[in-house]
Amino acid sequence: MYVSWVAAVFTLATLACSEELRPSSNYDFKETTEASKTTTQVSDNADKYGTGVKKALAWLITQRGDDWGWRNDTPKVLTALQLAAEEEAVGLSPARHEIELSSKQMEIEIVILLWRHHDVPITPPQLAKYCLALSSLCHDPRQFHGHDLIGTLQHHEATHDLEFAYATLAACTARAHVRKKQIRRLLDIANTAKDHNIDTVAMTILALRCIVKDHRHRNLQHSLRRPSISLARQQQPDGGFGNVFNTALVLQALQDLHELNSHWNKTAARAYLESRQDPDGAFTDPGLTSDVILALSERSLGVIRNMDCGRHDSDYENNVEIDGLTKSLSSHGNDSEIRNVTVTYTLWVGSNVTENCTTTITAPRNTSFYTIMQMAMDMDPHFAFEASEWPNGHYVHTLAGYKEEPMGYHYWLLYRLPELPDPSAPPANQLVAPVGVDDLLIEEGDHYLFWYKKL
Ligand SMILES: *[C@@H]1O[C@H](CO)[C@@H](O)[C@H](O)[C@H]1NC(C)=O
Ligand SMILES: *[C@@H]1O[C@H](CO)[C@@H](O)[C@H](O)[C@H]1NC(C)=O
Ligand SMILES: *[C@@H]1O[C@H](CO)[C@@H](O)[C@H](O)[C@H]1NC(C)=O
Ligand SMILES: *[C@@H]1O[C@H](CO)[C@@H](O)[C@H](O)[C@H]1NC(C)=O
Ligand SMILES: *[C@@H]1O[C@H](CO)[C@@H](O)[C@H](O)[C@H]1NC(C)=O
Ligand SMILES: *[C@@H]1O[C@H](CO)[C@@H](O)[C@H](O)[C@H]1NC(C)=O
Repeated sequence: MYVSWVAAVFTLATLACSEELRPSSNYDFKETTEASKTTTQVSDNADKYGTGVKKALAWLITQRGDDWGWRNDTPKVLTALQLAAEEEAVGLSPARHEIELSSKQMEIEIVILLWRHHDVPITPPQLAKYCLALSSLCHDPRQFHGHDLIGTLQHHEATHDLEFAYATLAACTARAHVRKKQIRRLLDIANTAKDHNIDTVAMTILALRCIVKDHRHRNLQHSLRRPSISLARQQQPDGGFGNVFNTALVLQALQDLHELNSHWNKTAARAYLESRQDPDGAFTDPGLTSDVILALSERSLGVIRNMDCGRHDSDYENNVEIDGLTKSLSSHGNDSEIRNVTVTYTLWVGSNVTENCTTTITAPRNTSFYTIMQMAMDMDPHFAFEASEWPNGHYVHTLAGYKEEPMGYHYWLLYRLPELPDPSAPPANQLVAPVGVDDLLIEEGDHYLFWYKKL
């Protein structure tokens, strides 16, 4: 089993579009970048995050294993860390390269899960957790190294209502098509909320709130009101909803529904959770701690769908979605028309971008980025590359003379960006391309960056 991550490193060379390629040893590879530190500070400049959340985040980091994962809870923890990082709670979450390492560990876990699925069947909640985590990392779970995890998830409809709602939330979050039959089942659960467990109703509301973000289902908005009120009214005198897990889920489900304030006491629910925190910052285990972090920081699972993953269409939700494959009809009009698109392709070398090179290429829409790389190489020798071929695609190991050097942790990372990369504002790791060079199809206005840096 081989997984092709686009990553590679180098031999000595320099890169500058206007000059000839020359062998060089003037690049100091021993640079100490932030990447070589593994510290995580807890800063107090993020007011939205109370002490409880900060302590919980810090505790999660202490629980990280040597393999950068959290045993069974890697996806839940990564989701929580990623949502905290997105909130610009600088200093609260691990450095980007640390997230990257944990994310790679999670990918390994997923591959093992898929690999062994004949012996150990994959359960819907397991897969839903991974899909949500991938989405929070801006990786498309429908294109996990050529495997459609959402397809797998939707293939066997869960019998258990809670699991079903969780799986549907994961699919909706990945902007996949949610079938009418599935929506009807969610509405049935919502409409008979009193007959269901609190966690099931809360998860159903989360799933439905995701679905109504799709303009085609906006009319379902009104059907959320009654079940939401019914859920809010199940608050107990202690402020909670039976236990920590339920309370965390309800806080997420009812997040931002201010019109419900007269039906429950949110402050009391938060206080209930805060009073359950262990002195070391934990809420029992990493999984539950992650759930509580989402609840208390008001970054529910419901926000993942709207995360800014560098998509071109910031007004995404108003655009047309076709068969769950969300495609925005571009301003150029006719989508089915064959036309050329123009993209830029940039190479950066070094964490401080000591060398750079950019070219502009026009090619038919739907061309793979691998083909763009070949075109660039034909036009300009600075873009020369070598790749090995694997069953699931090309693995680029050398670019512009810089060859993979795993021992030194020097990697080429491929980014797909909405604008030309600027060394003074380098792209976030969320913008690393979610798929390999063969599966990445160019669109008008794309800017690609291969950045060599030390992780
Ligand atoms: C990269 O930039 C940082 C901060 O500006 C500096 O401390 C470091 O020495 C630089 N590294 C190299 C290799 O130039
Ligand atoms: C809500 O709960 C908090 C904390 O338990 C309490 O101080 C507050 O008075 C309650 N608010 C209402 C409107 O009951
Ligand atoms: C788009 O272009 C195709 C082929 O050029 C044409 O058949 C189709 O009618 C066009 N659709 C629209 C909406 O213009
Ligand atoms: C697309 O670009 C190619 C090569 O630059 C050119 O030959 C072709 O005519 C272009 N096609 C369209 C529809 O502009
Ligand atoms: C690329 O490098 C050249 C110097 O080699 C510098 O003048 C230019 O500003 C750099 N451009 C970018 C986008 O980094
Ligand atoms: C892209 O190309 C593939 C095969 O070449 C085709 O099946 C697919 O419909 C194309 N997609 C678009 C958006 O043009």
